[in-house]
Parts: sequence; structure tokens; C-alpha cells
Amino acid sequence: MKKKRILSGMQPSGRMHLGNLIGALQNWIKLQEEDECFFFVADWHAMSTNYENTKDIRENITQLLIDWFACGLDPEKSTIFIQSRVEEHALLYLLLSMITPVSWLERNPTYKEQITQIKNKDLSTYGFLGYPVLQSADILSYKANAVPVGIDQLPHLELTREIARRFNFLYNAKLVEPEPLLTNIPKLPGTDGRKMSKSYNNAIYLSDPQDVFENKVKNLITDPARVRRTDKGNPDVCTVFVFHKIYSSADEVNQIDKDCRGAGIGCTDCKKRLVERMKISMKPIWEKREALLSDPKKVMDIAEAGSAKAKKIAAETLNEVKEAIGI
Ligand code: TRP
Ligand code: SF4
Repeated sequence: MKKKRILSGMQPSGRMHLGNLIGALQNWIKLQEEDECFFFVADWHAMSTNYENTKDIRENITQLLIDWFACGLDPEKSTIFIQSRVEEHALLYLLLSMITPVSWLERNPTYKEQITQIKNKDLSTYGFLGYPVLQSADILSYKANAVPVGIDQLPHLELTREIARRFNFLYNAKLVEPEPLLTNIPKLPGTDGRKMSKSYNNAIYLSDPQDVFENKVKNLITDPARVRRTDKGNPDVCTVFVFHKIYSSADEVNQIDKDCRGAGIGCTDCKKRLVERMKISMKPIWEKREALLSDPKKVMDIAEAGSAKAKKIAAETLNEVKEAIGI
């Protein structure tokens, strides 16, 4: 049977945090064992929301790649590339934009939400409105069958399918409608209990030095109703417990659940145990990060080689598309 083709991208907007790792990257790393995978750094997309400040983009690309490789994304198994190195995406984007009704873009819920919520950036550009058309070009260039994304990206996937259908109908083309691949991993909370996010200032980064990392874990918010050591706790409302469920064994999690409810364990000890578990899981990542940091050129070379591979496929699709249109 032919392998499924998977594609996904991430914006190079700062360092990766544990939320990105648990919520997205770990899933990619699993997928690369089974399927034919393409993963890319979406640098043009980062520019669409931040065109006034591009000075960090290049450094952020390298840092993101380092984090990917350190966590186990493997260029031997997946094609890893940089969006702006495959200019075919931009050509397909142009062609798709010709047939995409503006009303489809204006009614996109993710767009509407960001326009009303994000006040500190200028989002009134043509590029930002057309963001999902570029995303469609990213996906359709590879005839990807499935795209692992978070819930916020579902409208973009739906638009991609609609654009592909319309294009195929108009030109009798054979673009592939991709399925979204949602993970059922719950959102990782940040140190304050809200969703972990760079903009909330509550994130634990892969690049945090070990002492900063430990301090952040020790400062995770616990059951707020548990004031004294002798108070019984409720793990269901505790951020530390969410992390235990990810980093500790099932037996350990059950034990902590019992001990917390019976005031058999204190929060300080509970956190100490978590720190130990998390350190075991982070150690290989930290070590690999260190090694990669000393050779950023090698990291970029890998991504350039991946981009050359990706370009071949994107160029094939583009030729088919031009042929179908008749230009
Ligand atoms: N919009 C995605 C995000 O912000 C990134 C992205 C760009 C993407 N192109 C893509 C994801 C194509 C999946 C497929 O997370
Ligand atoms: Fe949370 Fe652990 Fe304290 Fe219970 S004992 S409230 S699970 S930190």
C-alpha cells in the first residue's frame, strides 16, 4: 500500500516551548515512523503577522530547526525544509489567489478572531487576509493527504479543501483535498495554569537553562485551595498534576492522585518528583541541543538539502497546474 503523505508547518516566531513539543512536535515525530512526511518552517507566514520586524526571522529559523532536531525530528525519515526556499509555493499561491473569493477569506473564523483580538500588530494587510491561500499552496503543492494541526487551524484546512475543489472543477485539475489530523492531547498549561503560550509569558522553553527550567516547574500553580500541608488536595484542578500525567508512569500518577486527596504528599515533594521525571525526559534533548548549537551551519545545510528535495515535488505539481490552466 502507498504510504500516506503528511505535511505540516510551524512559524519561526521565537523559541519552542513544551506546549509546542507535547502538542505538535511529538506527534510529528511519531508520524515520521509510518508515513511519508514533510515538515517545514513557515517563514513567509511569520512575516504576514510581523512584517515590521523581520530582523530575528533568520535566527529564529535556525533555532526552530535546532529544537526540531534535538527532539527527534529526523531528516533521514522526513523531508525538513524552509518555505521561502521553495518559491513554487509562492507561484501556486498566486494562481490559487485568482480563483479564491474574498468572501471566503473574510468569513474565516480564525481571521476574524485575530483581527479583533490582536491589537498590537497591523493585520490590515492583503498578505494577512490571504494567509490561508498561502497555507493552501503549502499543502496542495505536495498533494498531502493529511495535515496534523491544532484546532485553531481547522478553518484553514477547510478553506484548503474548498480551494482545491474549486480549482479542480474549473480546470479539471487533480489537486488532493487534505484531511486534518487532530491529536487528542489536551493543551499543556503554562506556569500560571492558562494555556502555555509565548504571549502569556508563562512558557517553559526548551532553551531555558536548567536552573530556570527547574524554577519554572517548581513555581507551577497547584490546587489553590490547598493552603497547608495537612489540607487535602484536588489533583484535578492542579497544573502540576497535568504535567505528572505526561511525564510520570501511570502507577505513579495513580499514587499521587491518592496521596494528594488524602494529604499524604505535600506539594513541594510532589513538584520535586515532577522535576526529576522531567529532567530525565529533557536530558537527551538538552544534550542534543548543545551539540547542534555548536554547529548551526550543519543545521541549515540539512534544511537546504530538504528544501531541494521538496522543490522537486512542488515544481512537479506546479507544472501540472499550469498545464491544467493552459498557461
Ligand atoms: N498556519 C500554521 C500555524 O500558524 C502554520 C502553517 C503554514 C501550516 N502553512 C502550513 C500548517 C501548512 C500546516 C500546513 O500553525
Ligand atoms: Fe498538585 Fe501534587 Fe499538590 Fe496535589 S500534591 S495539589 S497534585 S502539587
